Amino acid sequence: MHKDIEKILVSQEEIQEKCKELGAQLSEEYQDRFPLAIGVLKGALPFMSDILRSMDTYLEMDFMDVSSYGGELRSSGEVKIEKDLNTKVEGRDLLIIEDIIDSGLTLSYLVDLFKYRKAKSIKIVTLLDKPEGRTVDIKADVVGFKVPNEFVVGYGLDYQEKYRNLPYIGVLKPHVYGGE
Ligand code: XMP
Ligand code: MG
Repeated sequence: MHKDIEKILVSQEEIQEKCKELGAQLSEEYQDRFPLAIGVLKGALPFMSDILRSMDTYLEMDFMDVSSYGGELRSSGEVKIEKDLNTKVEGRDLLIIEDIIDSGLTLSYLVDLFKYRKAKSIKIVTLLDKPEGRTVDIKADVVGFKVPNEFVVGYGLDYQEKYRNLPYIGVLKPHVYGGE
């Protein structure tokens, strides 16, 4: 385990197992629909890579980068598009792939945007759900794991751009972010 990590919340094995299970499920559902999988950068990258490789349907991938956090631990309440899609979503079946839903601001913004752009259907697929963090009313369609209201890192999730490469989800030791 990395020296800055206090405890592991979801292990590498649990994540890999879940990706296979969810990928198989989605595979069946999207068999003849050529969905557009939209990864929300940068956090969704490992999850997207693993879950989509468990699907054996035709699919297209694109990426969106939005920010609401900066280097802070809490959401600023603002969502800004840093990088938009290269693909038209009109008439497409979308799979939005996210690392975590916390306040729900990012996803509710994206869902509104894609509805406005006339997507045919939208499914939210998130590795983690932190239900206690919610400030807007939004639910994911597919959730890997629920996590408590703690700041988590690893498997795409960062603290000041570090720890995204860890293969598990963990909680940092408090001294790392200036706590006790
Ligand atoms: P919202 O609040 O818009 O948050 O649902 C979505 C984005 O916020 C980031 N986020 C976290 N990042 N550990 C992180 O490293 C966390 O515990 C955490 N909670 C929210 C994340 O980028 C997510 O896409
Ligand atoms: Mg994110």
